[in-house]
Amino acid sequence: MYSVLIVEDNADLRENMKWALSSSYKVFEADSAVSSIDAFKRILPDVVLLDMGLDNIPDCGLTVIDEMMVINRFAKIIVITANTTPTLGHEAVQRGAFDFFYKPIDVEQLKQIIERAVRIKNLEQQAPAAGNTGGDPHMEIDSSIFIVGKSEVMKRVFELIRRLSQTDVNVLITGESGTGKELCARAIHYHSNRRTNNFVPINCGAIPETLIESELFGYVKGAFTGAVADKEGLIESADGGTLLLDEIGEMPKNLQVKLLRFLEDQKIQRIGGTTLKTVNVRIIAATNRKDLKDESGLRNDLYYRLSEFQIDLPALRERGDDVIHIAESIIERNRRRFNRPRLHLSPRAKKVLISYSWPGNVRELENKLSRASITCINDRIEPEDLQISSKDACDIFDYKKARDAFEKEYLESLMVKCNNNISEASKISGISRPTLYNMMKKQGIKI
Ligand SMILES: Nc1ncnc2c1ncn2[C@@H]1O[C@H](COP(=O)(O)OP(=O)(O)OP(=O)(O)O)[C@@H](O)[C@H]1O
Ligand SMILES: [Mg+2]
Repeated sequence: MYSVLIVEDNADLRENMKWALSSSYKVFEADSAVSSIDAFKRILPDVVLLDMGLDNIPDCGLTVIDEMMVINRFAKIIVITANTTPTLGHEAVQRGAFDFFYKPIDVEQLKQIIERAVRIKNLEQQAPAAGNTGGDPHMEIDSSIFIVGKSEVMKRVFELIRRLSQTDVNVLITGESGTGKELCARAIHYHSNRRTNNFVPINCGAIPETLIESELFGYVKGAFTGAVADKEGLIESADGGTLLLDEIGEMPKNLQVKLLRFLEDQKIQRIGGTTLKTVNVRIIAATNRKDLKDESGLRNDLYYRLSEFQIDLPALRERGDDVIHIAESIIERNRRRFNRPRLHLSPRAKKVLISYSWPGNVRELENKLSRASITCINDRIEPEDLQISSKDACDIFDYKKARDAFEKEYLESLMVKCNNNISEASKISGISRPTLYNMMKKQGIKI
């Protein structure tokens, strides 16, 4: 469902529009310029209905358009203006609004304009320049790397990546270790118009505290002992591109202040230098810490700056069958890597992959599969090759999971036996047709 943000300070009018649109769109509301920008960053709506007169300023909408266009130039802003200010509508379109519309509002006409806006937005995003991969279950990062995922949770992540890549907002990616945070950051960069410039990852936890500052900001010759020549910092080397601050929770406190200052004015000064240089970088931060906002983690002001938008990556065990899809893609790679073209997973191994809890997420899956790809006999990977014991795969004893697994297997065999004929299946199983339909829908079985 497409999203529409209604920005209107008249509560009755807002309510009317919401009422008219909420059956066809996901509707959000804001009643002032500031709250509309906040909501816009948070929701990244497809369409904005923007009242031109806000906060008692007749042309306030124009500055709102300017700000929104910087954040997401693909959003379709439809300006609603009073008849008394006809020129403002044209001015709004010149600044990037999609269309304008006079009060009083004709709901049918408004719906038509929104529909047209959504259609055009879709077409624009399908253009190769926008780097869209449509409804593809795998998200491309470059010609050879993909984020694999077919689960609903991952489809939502892909959608966020696509939307965020059309903007410059700071993004914080959270998730357990090995869930693909860096991969996600790369995808945002790859799908943005920064893709021809550098993607620069820096692991704040891996560089000694004394070196992080010079790594990030660079230095001039003679700034300290050992500074024998000028050196560009990582921020500068990401100019025009994207900087990933990985393990951001490990950033020393004094540097957090410096980073915050940089985020505010996008200017850097090399250590020992005297000049300021403006650098245009998109910042993505990542963490696997749940306590990031606590005393031991980030300063509050920096946290809010970095998390203008947050992507929470689900753990692998929360992605259903994705573990199999990812495993298959890793095996495909390993076939070439280890020259074993017939390598495959046994049915028993597939079951174990699904029931194991994957504390190390995709990285653990890669490691286990790489070892198994070398050690397995007859090109068939068995649970023993994966070194997962039935005790580790103890989720088999989770009753709900076991029941779900049984139900899925049962329905699949039933449909095979009945040649996908529901009446027949209902007769054999003694389950009513509507219940069968519901069960199949729940299990994602299509006929
Ligand atoms: N959905 C996925 N499809 C395919 N490969 C994936 C997927 N997610 C992660 N990977 C692979 O798993 C490995 C770990 O991913 P990545 O380094 O992005 O995780 P991370 O969350 O940054 O980990 P850490 O917290 O340890 O820094 C990488 O080799 C990556 O290519
Ligand atoms: Mg990482």
